[in-house]
Amino acid sequence: MSVSIGSQGDSVRYRSRLQQPETERHPDTHPLTWRLRDDGEVIWLEEYLRKDGYESVRRALADRDPQAIIATMKDANVGGRGGGGFSAGLKWSLTLQGEDIPRGYLICNADEMEPGTFKDRLLMEQQPHLLIEGMILGALANNSCFGYIFLRGEYVTAARVLKRAIEEARHAGWLGADINGSGFDFDIIVHTGAGRYICGEETALINSLEGKRANPRTKPPFPGQSGAWGKPSVVNNVETLCNAPGVILNGADWYQDLSGDSTDNGGTKLYGISGPVENPGLWELPMGTTGAEILDRAGGMRNGSELKTWLPGGASTGFLLPEHLDLPLDFNTVGKEGSRLGTGLMTMVPQEQSLVALLRNLEEFFARESCGWCTPCRDGLPWAAKLLRALELGQGETGDIELLEKLAADCGPTLTFCAHAPGAAMPLHTALKHFRHEFEQGISKPRIKAVEG
Ligand SMILES: Cc1cc2nc3c(=O)[nH]c(=O)nc-3n(C[C@H](O)[C@H](O)[C@H](O)COP(=O)(O)O)c2cc1C
Ligand code: SF4
Repeated sequence: MSVSIGSQGDSVRYRSRLQQPETERHPDTHPLTWRLRDDGEVIWLEEYLRKDGYESVRRALADRDPQAIIATMKDANVGGRGGGGFSAGLKWSLTLQGEDIPRGYLICNADEMEPGTFKDRLLMEQQPHLLIEGMILGALANNSCFGYIFLRGEYVTAARVLKRAIEEARHAGWLGADINGSGFDFDIIVHTGAGRYICGEETALINSLEGKRANPRTKPPFPGQSGAWGKPSVVNNVETLCNAPGVILNGADWYQDLSGDSTDNGGTKLYGISGPVENPGLWELPMGTTGAEILDRAGGMRNGSELKTWLPGGASTGFLLPEHLDLPLDFNTVGKEGSRLGTGLMTMVPQEQSLVALLRNLEEFFARESCGWCTPCRDGLPWAAKLLRALELGQGETGDIELLEKLAADCGPTLTFCAHAPGAAMPLHTALKHFRHEFEQGISKPRIKAVEG
C-alpha cells in the first residue's frame, strides 16, 4: 500500500466532503458550516440572507467603527488558518491607516496548494457569500478599497461559484460603490493563479498579483505597510476571513468559548483527514479536538491497517507518532511537539508505507516548487531528493543520512528568505528523528571519495 500526498485539484475523487450531517451543525456551535446543506449545493444569496447572511456587515456598516472591529477580532484571537496561527486582529491593527495614507487592498489567500489540504475549497465552493462577508469586514477594518481572491487555478468550480456570488452581491448592493447607502466603497475580483506552491507565500502572492515573477519579498516592509502596488495590503487565508462574520456578530467571548477546555486557542477549526482511512473528509470541530477523535470520526484506518505516523496539517508539517493522537490539535500544543498545526488536515501513514519513498516524493515536490532565490533551498532540496532516491533504491552511501540531516538543518528557520525551505525541512528532519532505521536500510555502499589533484 502506498500513500500519495497530492495537492488536490478539481478531480471528483477528492471532492471536499463535509462528514457532519445538517442535524449535527448549529448556528451557535458551527459558525463556518451550519448553513451548508447535506446535498452539497451552493448556498446562493437568497438562502444565505434567510440564514442571517450579511447581518455582521449590516451592523458594522451602521457603526462604521473600524477600531471596534479590530478590537473584537483581537480579543477573539482568531489565529490565522493559513498555517501560521498569527492573530488576525493583531495583523489588522498593524495596517497603515490615516488621512494621508492611500486606501489599500484586502487579499484573500485562496491558493491552497499545501499537499493534503482541501478545506478552503469547501468554503468557496459551497458558501461563497460567507467569504465575501468576511472580506467586507476586513476591508472596513483595514480601509481597503478593493479585494482580490487569489485562487488556485485548478479550482475551476470555486472560481465559477465565487464569480457568480460576487455578481449576486454586487447586484444586491453588498459590493461596489456606496454599499447599501453606507458611503463605503469596496469591490472584489477573483484572480486565478497559474499554479505554483510559492504563490501561496503572501509576498510572492503579491508579486504574482502584480504580474511579476513569484519570488518572496523582503520583510520589512510588511504588506500592511507596503503591499500590492506599494499600498497597505492585508493577506488572510479563506478560513480566517470566514471566521470574521461570526466573531463580529456574536462577540469575542462567544468565539473563545467555542473551543475545547484543553486549549488556549479559541473558535472552531475545519479539521480533515486523508490517507488510507475509511471515510476521508472534513469536520468543523472545537479548536483543540484531538487527532484520535478525528481518526475515530473517519472510521479509523482502512481495512484495519496499523498507523505508523501522521502529518497534522499538510506536507510542510513534522511527522507525529500514534502516541501524539491524544494531544489537542491547536497551534501551541502541536508546536511544542516539534511539528506545526499547519492547515489542520491530517495525513495518515500506515505501517507498510516506506517512509523513505514518502519523503522522496515530498522533497521532489518541494524542490520543484522552490523559487530558486536562496542557495539552501534551490540546491539543497534537489540534493536531498537525490539522496532519498538512492536510499529508496537501496543504493545509499555511508554518510548520506548525516548529509540529509545537514541539508535539513541548513534549511532551518531564519536561514532562508521565506518559510518554504523550513517547511520542506520539517518532515525530513522529523522522519529522520523518528524513523532513522528505515533510512539506514537503504545504505549499501561506502562513500566514494572525490579524487584530488
Ligand atoms: C511556501 C508557502 C506556501 C503558502 N501557501 C499558503 C496557501 O496556499 N494559503 C494560505 O492561506 N497561506 C499560505 N501560506 C502562508 C501565507 O504566507 C500567509 O502567512 C497567510 O496567507 C496569512 O493568512 P492568515 O494569517 O489568515 O493565516 C504559505 C506560506 C508559504 C511559505
Ligand atoms: S526559501 Fe526557497 S522558496 Fe523561499 S525565497 Fe528561498 S529559494 Fe525561494
